[in-house]
Amino acid sequence: MSTGANWSAIAKLLHWTIAALIVAQFVVGWMAVSWRLSPMKLDLFVWHKSTGMLVLALVVLRLAWRATHHPPPLPSNMPRWERFAAALTHALLYAAMIAIPLTGWVVSSAAGVPFSIYWRIPLPSIAPTDRHLVEVVGNVHGALGIALIVLLVIHVGAALRHHYIKRDDVLVRMLPRRRTSR
Ligand code: HEM
Ligand code: HEM
Repeated sequence: MSTGANWSAIAKLLHWTIAALIVAQFVVGWMAVSWRLSPMKLDLFVWHKSTGMLVLALVVLRLAWRATHHPPPLPSNMPRWERFAAALTHALLYAAMIAIPLTGWVVSSAAGVPFSIYWRIPLPSIAPTDRHLVEVVGNVHGALGIALIVLLVIHVGAALRHHYIKRDDVLVRMLPRRRTSR
């Protein structure tokens, strides 16, 4: 069933930019943690922490946009449990996208080493220097990352189910519009 509705260009741009940056964050985060101690490891951490702060800023912007704009309606024949599941998954995705960078920021602060975003903008400290805090919140940061991956499997699975099984336009209306070929 087609809703005939579409996500706005801003919503699509934010959705896909943030999605791409988050995928990069996982790759660079795991590389940074496992790299041998070297200048390269430190650079990987600067990229990871800087891009993570960029994600946080974009997600705040996206939530502000979302609070002031109506999303396109879901297909009218969608059962109540599916609407609830979608709303819950989206809320948890937003929560993870905020909590993961915030816990990263706490770890970075608790390490007590001054840090500048992309080597330029000094990041204020939001936690006291504390080795124990680095370890505990570092584990929380990693565990939240795994939780986000679980949510994304559900999210992408649901999007593909809409497209290939239910055959509605829920996925297509979030895709960047392609030019029609002549
Ligand atoms: C959406 C944003 C982010 C994602 C998806 C993400 C994901 C990850 C992942 C997967 C790891 C490896 C975890 C492990 O194997 O233990 C990691 C490590 C780390 N991240 Fe992030 N991260 C994000 C944002 C940030 C931010 C904003 C900061 C700091 C300003 C940060 C600081 C760190 C630090 C310090 C570690 C190493 C932690 C440790 O050694 O226990 N991250 N991150
Ligand atoms: C890191 C990756 C991703 C994250 C964090 C993410 C997050 C989100 C969030 C929070 C929403 C809810 C938007 C709102 O109601 O304000 C959403 C919507 C959506 N996402 Fe994703 N997404 C990601 C990747 C993907 C991928 C790979 C696909 C497709 C295969 C996809 C398909 C969709 C679709 C179709 C919607 C619109 C749902 C609707 O109309 O209710 N997303 N995404």
